Amino acid sequence: MKDNFSKYGEIYDFFYFDKNYMKEARHLNELIKKNLEIGTANLSILDVGCGTGGYAQHLNKYYKITGIDLSKEMIKIANNKNLKNCKFYEGDGTQYISSKKYDIVISMFHVVNYQITKIQFNKFIRNAFLNLKPGGIFIFDFWNSPATLIDPPESKIKIVSSVNELLLRHTLPRRFSKNRIDIKFDFYRIKYGHNKIKSFSETHKIRTLDKSAITQLATKNFKLVELNKAFYFKPLTAKDWHGLAVFKKLS
Ligand SMILES: C[S@@+](CC[C@H](N)C(=O)[O-])C[C@H]1O[C@@H](n2cnc3c(N)ncnc32)[C@H](O)[C@@H]1O
Repeated sequence: MKDNFSKYGEIYDFFYFDKNYMKEARHLNELIKKNLEIGTANLSILDVGCGTGGYAQHLNKYYKITGIDLSKEMIKIANNKNLKNCKFYEGDGTQYISSKKYDIVISMFHVVNYQITKIQFNKFIRNAFLNLKPGGIFIFDFWNSPATLIDPPESKIKIVSSVNELLLRHTLPRRFSKNRIDIKFDFYRIKYGHNKIKSFSETHKIRTLDKSAITQLATKNFKLVELNKAFYFKPLTAKDWHGLAVFKKLS
């Protein structure tokens, strides 16, 4: 699969300094405690699409974490953090079947939406199931199609700055169908004291999901146990942009 984050990786943590990974990781921990009936001591997590380890750096207090990501750059940054109880490797969630099985698989910050073909998406989900122990749970969040139709993504600008530099991102969405959107990002990076603006662009191909696409993933052995507004214990509605699902592997 294509690595969308080769250039983005370098500025990822700076750009998302305001994402509250700590609070979101706390919610994941609550979901785990609620849905895993075997206590939370010595449990293992496979973090698929771990990025620079944003969730891992808060979950590693409680769990042993293996992270995989398509992006070499993201993995390099995650490993450079030397987080305790964490190991990060380059890997593709549509291909990765581990010999070791995990208590929990997570895939957060809409990694599933990057699986744009039905085949990629199905392989990604199947592998999460195969990488789980019986009784284990798979948690993922996603962009919810109906909400993106009611309140479509718009062109926008975000600026972040530090004492050394300023970074501007222009986002330009382009919709192809009910559930396919391309998001073009143009970045401009200005280092103070240098008379230069560095720029680069990346286009992220997104496939949005809806309740029916999520409920269809359930099988006799893979039960949907939560379908919520992300990071709330409230059922997902058509107005919620951000959904979160928890599946449990029964055998
Ligand atoms: C928006 S980032 C989220 C990263 C991280 N989970 C976080 O919350 O910061 C999406 C990540 O998913 C990764 N990704 C997308 N498809 C993947 C796949 N099939 N296998 C592994 N990683 C994937 C990308 O490389 C990128 O790092």
